[in-house]
Amino acid sequence: MQMSKTVALGRTGRSLFPVGLGCMSMSDFYDRPEDRDEQESIATIVEALDAGIQLIDTADVYGNGHNEMLVGKAFRQWREAGGDRDDVILATKFGNVRDGDGNWLGRNGTPEYAQFACERSLKFLDGETIDLYYLHRVDAKTPIEETVGGMARLVEQGKVRYIGLSEASADTLRRANAVHPITALQTEYSLWYREPEREHFAICAQLGITFVPYSPLGRGFLTGNYSKPEDFAQGDSRPSASRFQGDNFAYNLQLAEGIKTLARQLGCTPAQLALAWIMAQGRTGENSEPAHIGAPGDAVRPNILPIPGCKQRGHLRDNIGSVAVELSQSNLATLEQLAPIGWAQGERYAPQGMAAVNL
Ligand SMILES: NC(=O)c1ccc[n+]([C@@H]2O[C@H](COP(=O)([O-])OP(=O)(O)OC[C@H]3O[C@@H](n4cnc5c(N)ncnc54)[C@H](OP(=O)(O)O)[C@@H]3O)[C@@H](O)[C@H]2O)c1
Repeated sequence: MQMSKTVALGRTGRSLFPVGLGCMSMSDFYDRPEDRDEQESIATIVEALDAGIQLIDTADVYGNGHNEMLVGKAFRQWREAGGDRDDVILATKFGNVRDGDGNWLGRNGTPEYAQFACERSLKFLDGETIDLYYLHRVDAKTPIEETVGGMARLVEQGKVRYIGLSEASADTLRRANAVHPITALQTEYSLWYREPEREHFAICAQLGITFVPYSPLGRGFLTGNYSKPEDFAQGDSRPSASRFQGDNFAYNLQLAEGIKTLARQLGCTPAQLALAWIMAQGRTGENSEPAHIGAPGDAVRPNILPIPGCKQRGHLRDNIGSVAVELSQSNLATLEQLAPIGWAQGERYAPQGMAAVNL
């Protein structure tokens, strides 16, 4: 595995392989439990680690613990085969709350809940240290200073190495970082959702926070594998967001088609093109420096490390291949024309989900 390109992880002094692996779809949201293949999922995580991927992403709510257990199993298998655990950042999240049946109960960012959730995740993860612990969604009832104070105590206790936030507003990020260094911001970002460029990029660059785009393939839409809403299987939650519905779907399809066309010209896959575009937006590169800390406006591009999600090794290999895709200025201009910021139609979550982002 070539390691010439790396991305600095916050201000930790560590640099990682420029693409991570998101494990969510192995346990939740995009299919029915009976359609899942646990062996293939574990094989995918192990192959990712063997291939040099250094950021593995899960959360306590993915499959209500199932995903963390799966990741724990894969890590144990990989370590027993000689994998160097210190080389990898295992990230999980807390703060979204579900009951035992999987019903959503809201958000909890209190220090007491952080402590409880962290200890539960450590059990699910089979004792694997949590290298990067994210607040999954900001709890509007708990000041962010309190939440991050509670997370900082987990660092003091040695249960967590670094702290991150997910879907936090720029203001919240600044307040949080004043309490304890924030290592990463995980927020949706891709060719069909570019809003973070407006404010989050600059704040991450200024504060030395790595920007971790989730759903970098547009939840699969940008891979060109879907041509109508009915293509999503029964039990798939994606069509609950309006960008996957009716006229919005048809409109947004122009982007998926445009990506397909350019990918064909470049001899790569649409997924590789979508990921290469993201990497080209950040400071990722041959000589990626540690994150820049400066005055407002001094730097507008953060370090960016996308975490494409997949549950099969074929997709994993494809996504790793994106690191070798070089885009010219002309290729980037073509994509800019196809999908300028704000271009895509429809919301990315159903209304209750939209109410919980960017707080
Ligand atoms: N912080 C948050 O609130 C939040 C929210 C959502 C996601 N996330 C994180 O971000 C990760 C990625 O997001 P995501 O899974 O929602 O969306 P994504 O990475 O944009 O897309 C995943 C979908 O694309 C498919 N896919 C992956 N690679 C492919 C390839 N090379 N060719 C064709 N299809 C491919 C996957 O299929 P298969 O699964 O069948 O391989 C899956 O259906 C998640 O796993 C999770 O860790 C975080």
